[in-house]
Amino acid sequence: MRIAVLGTGMVGRAFAARLVGLGHEVTIGTRDVAATMARAETDAMGNSPFPQWAAEHPAVTLATFADAAAPAELVVNATAGSATIAVLEAAGAANLAGKVVLDIANPLDYSAGMPPTLLVKDTDSLGEQIQRTFHDARVVKALNTMNAYLMVEPRQLADADFSAFVSGNDPDAKKTVTALLESFGHTDVIDLGDISTARGTEMILPIWIRLWGALGTPMFNFKIVR
Ligand SMILES: NC(=O)c1ccc[n+]([C@@H]2O[C@H](COP(=O)([O-])OP(=O)(O)OC[C@H]3O[C@@H](n4cnc5c(N)ncnc54)[C@H](OP(=O)(O)O)[C@@H]3O)[C@@H](O)[C@H]2O)c1
Repeated sequence: MRIAVLGTGMVGRAFAARLVGLGHEVTIGTRDVAATMARAETDAMGNSPFPQWAAEHPAVTLATFADAAAPAELVVNATAGSATIAVLEAAGAANLAGKVVLDIANPLDYSAGMPPTLLVKDTDSLGEQIQRTFHDARVVKALNTMNAYLMVEPRQLADADFSAFVSGNDPDAKKTVTALLESFGHTDVIDLGDISTARGTEMILPIWIRLWGALGTPMFNFKIVR
């Protein structure tokens, strides 16, 4: 499949590398290609400068958000939640229309430091905001409840039979995303219902962040035992 991964951070990179490994054609989207390819600093999360990562992954191309989204069959949103709507506007509503948009972003507000709070919650969610703003896109919220490396390589934990969630209004779009997750190795994908159920998975972040602190590692996940 031809896939646009919007986002140059660790999620976008993990996704792009895994998708290429599975035989997909992948373009990463960014604001300014020249600026991104001129980066020389390691980011706040300790990720290598993008040009270094790009040199190690020559099959992945880099383009503007719009140029990445235009030819894509599926679009992955792996951008900062505070910037997501602006990024998707830059990608272009017409370039998202009719397409599955897999939204992984969390609406985290770091403006008051750590731990972050949620920019939207309780009665709305980022997933719903995306679906409302880009009404012709087929938005599916998924994978935002786990670390980037576990999203794409779930089998690396000893007890890999953990749970992933999908939320969205379009049953076929959720089937497409579920099949993609299963191709990564996920075995327990739970369909929560329409896109409003993204409120639940976005609001899991406050406990996820405390678990990260308590366990001292982001390599853990939720398993729904029933
Ligand atoms: N890290 C994880 O393990 C993890 C796990 C679950 C969910 N998530 C969620 O996944 C998303 C991606 O996380 P990440 O850590 O990979 O990357 P990130 O640092 O949250 O986001 C990086 C991307 O956001 C874009 N961006 C940032 N500020 C922008 C602005 N003001 N205007 C336009 N674009 C802007 C950047 O564009 P440029 O390319 O132009 O710089 C870049 O592509 C986030 O929503 C995060 O909460 C992350």
